[in-house]
Amino acid sequence: MSDTPTGSHLFTPIRLGNLALDNRIIIAPMCQYSAHEGTPGDWHFMHLGTLALSGAGMLIIEATAVEPIGRITAGDLGLYSDENERGLARVLHALRTHSPIKIGMQLAHAGRKASSREPWNGGAQVAPDAPGGWLACAPSALPHAAHEAPPAALDADGLRRIRTAFTDAARRAARLGIDGLEIHAAHGYLLHQFLSPLANRRSDAYGGSLENRMRFPLEVFEAVRDAFPADKPVWARISATDWVEDGWDIDGTVALSQALKARGCAAIHVSSGGVSPQQKIKLGPGYQVPYAARVKREVGLPTIAVGLITEAEQAEAIIAGGEADAVSLARGILYDPRWPWHAAAKLGAQVNAPRQYWRSQPRELKDLFANTHFGAR
Ligand SMILES: Cc1cc2nc3c(=O)[nH]c(=O)nc-3n(C[C@H](O)[C@H](O)[C@H](O)COP(=O)(O)O)c2cc1C
Repeated sequence: MSDTPTGSHLFTPIRLGNLALDNRIIIAPMCQYSAHEGTPGDWHFMHLGTLALSGAGMLIIEATAVEPIGRITAGDLGLYSDENERGLARVLHALRTHSPIKIGMQLAHAGRKASSREPWNGGAQVAPDAPGGWLACAPSALPHAAHEAPPAALDADGLRRIRTAFTDAARRAARLGIDGLEIHAAHGYLLHQFLSPLANRRSDAYGGSLENRMRFPLEVFEAVRDAFPADKPVWARISATDWVEDGWDIDGTVALSQALKARGCAAIHVSSGGVSPQQKIKLGPGYQVPYAARVKREVGLPTIAVGLITEAEQAEAIIAGGEADAVSLARGILYDPRWPWHAAAKLGAQVNAPRQYWRSQPRELKDLFANTHFGAR
């Protein structure tokens, strides 16, 4: 039996640091490749607006680049200019006016995976000298795929510039009233490139041993943690494994998570892969959950499990079984933006819905929506 009035573990509130979420369903960050010079437009009102009405505990805004050359594509969202900040302020105002959902943001730098086409345009690298392309930067001058143009290896000035860019973006996020920040250290982007021996061949203090490879991601975490209000959580998204022999692995993930915990990290969002085209992923329902479970068990931080979690009962079992503290959904919630409503209906729980939609509550589920009251003349 759960200790909740509804009996559902998934719909039991949770705290990430001081941030209280109504339930344990989190909307995973999802790039939309639809910004202009990093600034959100009408698409973001529609997309984030839809997701904000889902009843999930938190919505994490897509990978948001901290500098222009850290964008995956030219359409990535950014938070490096006043215009970006103004654009986001408008979107956030609309979300906040109509939804109580907690709003996180993923701060990101693409490293060597920058300067790409949008997925719907094939996703390939745009060469640095091609129209719309730029020279990417990375721990080492190694391309993501052998046939691609190599990035420039970052020197001390470059590392400083990127740390500062993360700090500046965190300050802008604080001004915007973002409820929590996720540092993107997964999926083969810049911070994961530092962690993985497949991408990091440096011979200075930032490469070689595990301790050295963790150094830059930890410096970035500390810089963001310092720049963001102390009463709001900062956490990290990590790839638990590269799915390549001799790549980054779960032991490194546990060590990194412990080091993050010591620096005030509020949670670990456990994903995998993305650093190498050689990866051999063993896909299946909840395929990354065992990694989240190991981080939870060995590190003791709240963990967020993600990856092919599509069913309410599956999500409920992950939380009830103590494998993770929360789940996040990406494709499943794009497919069904009312996923949390349907999950609450299946699990006998309650969920927030906008008052304009209260009358949609099915006849046989009179207590599905929280705090409703109706009247008519
Ligand atoms: C359209 C789309 C965009 C994504 N963009 C991001 C992103 O910005 N940051 C990130 O960490 N992961 C991103 N991902 C990965 C998802 O957050 C998630 O980890 C992955 O899709 C597995 O979860 P799922 O099986 O629920 O889709 C994206 C996935 C999709 C489908």
